[in-house]
Amino acid sequence: MTQEELFKKLVAHSKEYGFIFPSSEIYDGLSAVYDYGQLGVELKNNIKKYWWDAMTKLNDNIVGIDSAIFMHPRIWEASGHVGAFNDPLIDNRDSKKRYRADVLIEDFIAKQDEKIAKEVEKARKRFGEAFDEAKFLETNPRVAEHRAKRDAAHDRMVKALNDNDLNELRQIIVDSEIVCPISGTRNWTEVRQFNLMFETKMGSVSEGANTIYLRPETAQGIFVNFLNVQKTGRMKIPFGIAQIGKAFRNEIVARQFIFRMREFEQMEMQFFVRPGEELKWFDHWRQTRMKWHRALGFGDTHYRFHDHDKLAHYANAATDVEYEFPFGFKEVEGIHSRTDFDLGNHQKFSGKKIQYFDTETGESYVPYVVETSIGVDRMVLQVLSASYEEQKLDNGESRTVMHIPAALAPVKAAVLPLVKKDGLPEVARELMHSLKFDHNVQYDEKDSIGKRYRRQDAIGTPFCITVDHQTLEDKTVTIRHRDSMEQQRVAIADLPGIIGEEVSFRKLFAKLS
Ligand code: GAP
Repeated sequence: MTQEELFKKLVAHSKEYGFIFPSSEIYDGLSAVYDYGQLGVELKNNIKKYWWDAMTKLNDNIVGIDSAIFMHPRIWEASGHVGAFNDPLIDNRDSKKRYRADVLIEDFIAKQDEKIAKEVEKARKRFGEAFDEAKFLETNPRVAEHRAKRDAAHDRMVKALNDNDLNELRQIIVDSEIVCPISGTRNWTEVRQFNLMFETKMGSVSEGANTIYLRPETAQGIFVNFLNVQKTGRMKIPFGIAQIGKAFRNEIVARQFIFRMREFEQMEMQFFVRPGEELKWFDHWRQTRMKWHRALGFGDTHYRFHDHDKLAHYANAATDVEYEFPFGFKEVEGIHSRTDFDLGNHQKFSGKKIQYFDTETGESYVPYVVETSIGVDRMVLQVLSASYEEQKLDNGESRTVMHIPAALAPVKAAVLPLVKKDGLPEVARELMHSLKFDHNVQYDEKDSIGKRYRRQDAIGTPFCITVDHQTLEDKTVTIRHRDSMEQQRVAIADLPGIIGEEVSFRKLFAKLS
């Protein structure tokens, strides 16, 4: 199965089993907007808990807030979003499709790398054991040609983005002979800037309503509450404020399912530090956040850092944590050293002093900020794509199984009476009720036991507990483990301990310290 096929299957599976639905589907959907179904919301809540507790429970100097989505419009002037939160867009006149100019160039750059990898593979086959990859990469003229094209496009793009030179961006597309993926032509328009914020009105129109924005990031709600939290919580620098909430961006090139949406959710933490210490803390959070991702056990090689060539208008260092999705390595989380840009500008625009008095140094200053910012939806996609497997079994059958880490799994256990008679359903229901105060459990008595196991595998339930006739005699049940499919006979009294241990967040948190 190709990665593209796998991704299509994943999207279909997410819908079929109630993880994710297209929004407004009975009205033919709304582009790049999705709804979470009965299992999707459980998975999402568990991911949020993993993040929230890792921030606010494991760090005694990080607290959380929940600020409003609507904010004073001046905030977005101070933050730079009104002036600079733009994407450079270009249209193809033949297909009438619109693209981000930098994404077209990045795709071109990635293609050169693919061509180099193909040359290496071809040569490896030709030379067999005698193949010296390093020497080949150094001396092969075709590799040199691909490299030269890649490096030239990359260097020009970085410069054009930093200089905000839209003509040059277009020229790179023309010079690189990039064609529209739909029409196959090079009939490009000029490149234009497009602001990504959604506007709406507050107050009645007749009274002269104010234009306000749907927040494009949750971070500003943290900045404008810096003094509130610092003073009421008697927080001492360095300290952090965490928040989970919705953000909105009018993404023009929305694609790849829930990867790029117009309404999405962020988990952001702003860590306030002494000026001059920000790069030390940037490095700390870079390592800490990578550990958090890797603790999920999806394989270390599926993650990498991507340091930014073009820094956002507020940053003096920035990196992305990228995960290898079926459509390639893509950003899941951004870690930014935002300097004193935001607090400094809010001080200027609001006219209110935003300073911290450092009792250790005896100085007052505007703190510097290191931010970690991760998309909840991209985490959901990461977990779904890492977990999905179509397995061929030894007995010739096959199953689709979601190896979702037990702590994140939407349903922790399914209680299944072997047959729908002889008092087994009653015992099974009683057992389900005894577990439901601690865990999300399902009861299922429909179809053969094999079919019921498959249904639970497909939604990633770590345990299936079967109540059979022996249960009536000795108060034991079988517990089937999702990944190994092994079955154990255990006492009902031991179930809370076995399940509790496996689905607890403790195991994940232990890997973080
Ligand atoms: N406060 C900084 C900030 O917002 P960002 O890199 O623009 O930085 C942070 O966004 C994270 O939010 C990204 O790494 C991504 O996970 C998520 N994100 C951004 N735009 C998104 C979109 N359109 N759809 C889904 N997630 C998105």
